[in-house]
Amino acid sequence: MNTPSVAGQRAAELRALLDHHAYLYYVQDAPQIPDAEYDKLFQELQALEAAHPELLTADSPTQRVIGAVLDGLTTVRHVVPMLSIRTETDTTEGGAREFDKRVRRDLKLADEAPPVEYACELKFDGLAINLRYERGVLVQAATRGDGETGEDVTHNIRTLAQVPLRLIGVDAPVLEVRGEVYMRRDVFEALNEAQRGKGEKTYINPRNTAAGAVRQLDSRITASRKLSFFAYGLGDVQGWDVPPTHTALLDALAAMGLPVDARRRVVAGADGLVAFHAEIAAQRDALPFDIDGVVYKVNSRALQQELGFVSREPRWAVAHKYPAQEQVTLLRGIDIQVGRTGKLTPVAKLEPVFVGGTTVSNATLHNEDEARRKDVRIGDTVIVRRAGDVIPEVVGVVLDKRPASVGEPFDLYQRLAGRCPICGAAILREEGEVDWRCSGGISCPAQRKQAMLHFAQRRALDIEGLGDKIVEQLVDAGVIKTLPDLYKLGVASLAQLDRMADKSAGNLVAAIDRSKQTTLARFVYGLGIRHVGETTAKDLARHFGALDRLMDASTEQLLEAPDVGPVVAQSIRTFFEQPHNREVVEQLRAAGVTWAEHDGEADTSPKPLAGKTFVLTGSLPTLEREDAKALIEAAGGKVSGSVSKKTHYVVAGEAAGSKLDKARELGVEVIDEAALRALLAAE
Ligand code: IVH
Repeated sequence: MNTPSVAGQRAAELRALLDHHAYLYYVQDAPQIPDAEYDKLFQELQALEAAHPELLTADSPTQRVIGAVLDGLTTVRHVVPMLSIRTETDTTEGGAREFDKRVRRDLKLADEAPPVEYACELKFDGLAINLRYERGVLVQAATRGDGETGEDVTHNIRTLAQVPLRLIGVDAPVLEVRGEVYMRRDVFEALNEAQRGKGEKTYINPRNTAAGAVRQLDSRITASRKLSFFAYGLGDVQGWDVPPTHTALLDALAAMGLPVDARRRVVAGADGLVAFHAEIAAQRDALPFDIDGVVYKVNSRALQQELGFVSREPRWAVAHKYPAQEQVTLLRGIDIQVGRTGKLTPVAKLEPVFVGGTTVSNATLHNEDEARRKDVRIGDTVIVRRAGDVIPEVVGVVLDKRPASVGEPFDLYQRLAGRCPICGAAILREEGEVDWRCSGGISCPAQRKQAMLHFAQRRALDIEGLGDKIVEQLVDAGVIKTLPDLYKLGVASLAQLDRMADKSAGNLVAAIDRSKQTTLARFVYGLGIRHVGETTAKDLARHFGALDRLMDASTEQLLEAPDVGPVVAQSIRTFFEQPHNREVVEQLRAAGVTWAEHDGEADTSPKPLAGKTFVLTGSLPTLEREDAKALIEAAGGKVSGSVSKKTHYVVAGEAAGSKLDKARELGVEVIDEAALRALLAAE
């Protein structure tokens, strides 16, 4: 039996352990124990607290567990007002130079005085939150509100795994930390995907969704939204020595267990600001979250105090914007595109608009139901969003601007009179499916073209030079009806095409010939089976080892392959049950397409990189990223998209970005292409 004091000791020990592992998992992205182990410790603490309720503390990790439902949010007066910062809307480098000029003028610096040092950060697009820690324990979380008073959202913020309930090594009576709660783009996309699947309304953007989630009365909803947090400043402080620079402050916050963005940097003078603005602009689309600009802060606290405030804005900080990721524009029409699998996608034809850094004139409407839920009609003013790698989409309608002459509600079937716009075959929408499809299959030229481009792409059969212009002509001229026809092409027939010189025709024929020597994974991926992406194709190739085994596998056998669920298994079965698909496969083999087959798991080639994880960044001197990845994987290594403590090597090339910084920060070994090749060659 535990005496209460033994129990008390164990509870404290468990809390510390759980906090430590949650920090490694959620903040550092580098877990050291399996999830099941964490769960065991967690349950042990829960049981202890249930048996000894007096041991329960507000900062116990069990208290993130949600369930608090409030009648309304109460207001909180901020001890130190939450100010906003001046926004520089000139998105060119002029904006950065203006700020430096003002700072130098306000500090009365002579022209020849050395450059001012600035701390540069990203401007996270979420909502500002004040976290109040007393004696290191989170006691209150509040929204910014009007800056003077905000709302108490403690019950919700407690559910954010990245927000520590207790700070590491802090015993100050009061330490208020300010930062931004935001939603990652992948979390946002997944949430909208789920909404679409349920036939429910999608959310406009991550920022509004995060703000809505934080202001919920039911904290279970907040918890389900998987929000993130970055710390960037302070509020009320009592009994803690604030470090002398902003960077040192952020370092201190990170050491307390708070998430601080690693892309931050200290720079000198206007040139440093301009370089940072440009560097982050180049990374913006690839970031895991939305930003609407960068923030420059005078690094020295002494200088910050000297500069002070003007009309409730600090003179020592500025937000320097990037082009907006959402714009309004006119919807001129709706086209319907036919995809590789016959999927019919309504595409908005827009009055061209500059959004997210490029001019957009087409944006997806996803499917008929979604277009209807949004009540998008031709003639409407619509909101277009383009952020990250996601294709531009229409996220809403500005109903106030709807003209009297607006079009009818969107009806895909009626619009197409029930026929595929490309081949005229009947269109079908199966029960439970959100998409209409063309029933023409490979006889539909649109599907044929898409299938051909998919087959030829680098990650599939890698036929260099077979781009959309050529495919378009080959299919339209009827030269190619099925994939195997590709291998019958000669220089003479190609040279007749528009803009095709003899030499490039020769190159293309050579590339087609080279593609015959491939791998099973590439071949399977290239077939374009619904739901079989590159990773699944690799898993299938490894698991089955030979194409015939895959083609003849039963649903049960397919389900035994890694990561194959019922939907994927069914899709593979359906594909290989179609006689014409089997015929295509046989004809490709007959044309000479070949790869090494082996006995499933029994791959005996040397695996010098087994167990090693790599991250690629920047451009390597001779290897394309896909090739480097393929070489590493063939040697048994793994390639990951982000750097963590678990990364073994970061392979850096020219113009390497934040991943290189992260590697240095975490002490991960950084190598170049030559060193990678040496590793690959090792036995
Ligand atoms: S500093 C006194 N740093 O931008 C300075 N703000 O008006 C306080 N924001 O709503 C703000 N990223 O929530 C600061 N790295 C960053 C930020 C940031 C986003 C937001 C903040 C506020 C607005 C500033």
